[in-house]
Amino acid sequence: MSETEQVTIFDTTLRDGEQSPGCSMTADEKLRMARQLDRLGVDVIEAGFPVSSDGDFHSVQLVAREIRRPVIAALARTCHGDVERAWQALKAAAHPRIHTFLATSDIHLQYKLKLSRRECLEQARDAVRFAKSLCADVEFSAEDATRSDPQFLCDVLQAVIEAGATAINIPDTVGYTVPSEFADLIQTIRRQVHGVERVTISVHCHDDLGLAVANSLAAVGAGARQVECTINGIGERAGNASLEEFVMAMRVRPDRYAFRTAIVSEELFPSSQLLAEITGVPVQPNKAIIGRNAFAHEAGIHQDGMIKNPLTYEIMTPQSVGVPSTRFVLGKHSGRHALGLRCEELGFRLDRRELDQIYRYFVALADSTKTVEDNHILELMRKLHRERLHPSVTVESPHAPVIGSSNAAGHSHAGLAPVGHPSRDGSGNGAAPSVVLGTHENDQQEDYLWGV
Ligand code: KIV
Ligand code: ZN
Repeated sequence: MSETEQVTIFDTTLRDGEQSPGCSMTADEKLRMARQLDRLGVDVIEAGFPVSSDGDFHSVQLVAREIRRPVIAALARTCHGDVERAWQALKAAAHPRIHTFLATSDIHLQYKLKLSRRECLEQARDAVRFAKSLCADVEFSAEDATRSDPQFLCDVLQAVIEAGATAINIPDTVGYTVPSEFADLIQTIRRQVHGVERVTISVHCHDDLGLAVANSLAAVGAGARQVECTINGIGERAGNASLEEFVMAMRVRPDRYAFRTAIVSEELFPSSQLLAEITGVPVQPNKAIIGRNAFAHEAGIHQDGMIKNPLTYEIMTPQSVGVPSTRFVLGKHSGRHALGLRCEELGFRLDRRELDQIYRYFVALADSTKTVEDNHILELMRKLHRERLHPSVTVESPHAPVIGSSNAAGHSHAGLAPVGHPSRDGSGNGAAPSVVLGTHENDQQEDYLWGV
């Protein structure tokens, strides 16, 4: 059986990511984040753009001196001053890379750079040649590649390969391309550029149409072997391809993307959390993989399925991406199974009638509040207990509830042996939770309906 090929993960959280509004980082913050990226297992850390400020120069220098395993890259425009400055910041690195870039689209050449195509090609070639005289590892990016004339793009790429580039990066700078078109472009480059087989084809996608990860996956399918991405997908405008989404798409679907990465997936959530803490920019709750709701279930139909077997509604385990556990959000869409489970987790084992009763209280409460928290449930348990002591017409249960003894935390406790919690081994097998609930057909039917 043939070995799966590895895709290089080039993390640009500290460079392109830092360019997103509100995400700038001090040198110390970049260093903290770089240590976490090292733990995460990224292959390349783009630490900054040294010519942009003394602070950024210093940040790149700090990262280059301390982080020894990954390649450390620094960005430079295609002029000697930039390239020289990048090298000065990088030269203490164990594995330095100079990353130089120039736009190749007519829009950028005419309006932004006022360069002819010929001048563009010469400038790119000269910068790579100079960078190569300083550093063995040189990446060239053709900014706005996806809106460039493909033939001209290929000419420039061939010129920089001849000048010594070791990686050629194809950025979708404005997030304009779509997966099938981007795959075609990568194939065209592989067909037309002489020497391309000696270098790594890299892609760098922005998310203006929400397609950055899809475009990166399509490019890998077409032969790209390096993907530039950021934690939490931060970056210019709508951001860059999200590292966690790209990596987990390949891990969850090896049948479609038979590639490896060196990423330690359990470090994805800690990396996301650290970045949010450092920048003060929170992650959107429904963000794939690492958002607060990525492993949260509220609908009764989903909670019911999850309790029976997590494979029903989760395609990866939370543990596999470093999220502590699945969260059942109790709200107006939740069913009695999830409520019963949460009560058990809080230490209350209820019989069927008690569960019916507390579920009625719960539904009334959930109608008027967004989510029902543990303190609400404790209040409902107290209410149930009061009703047991002083039955009123609203309480139907003639049974003595099995609540009453106190646990160490002072909760009114079922006084039973510890109850099982849903748990999984994190291996991705999705073993069913250990709690068996509700054998009554009506319970199940009602849970089902709640979710619809
Ligand atoms: O989006 C882009 O084109 C870039 C390049 C500098 C790689 O960030
Ligand atoms: Zn970019």
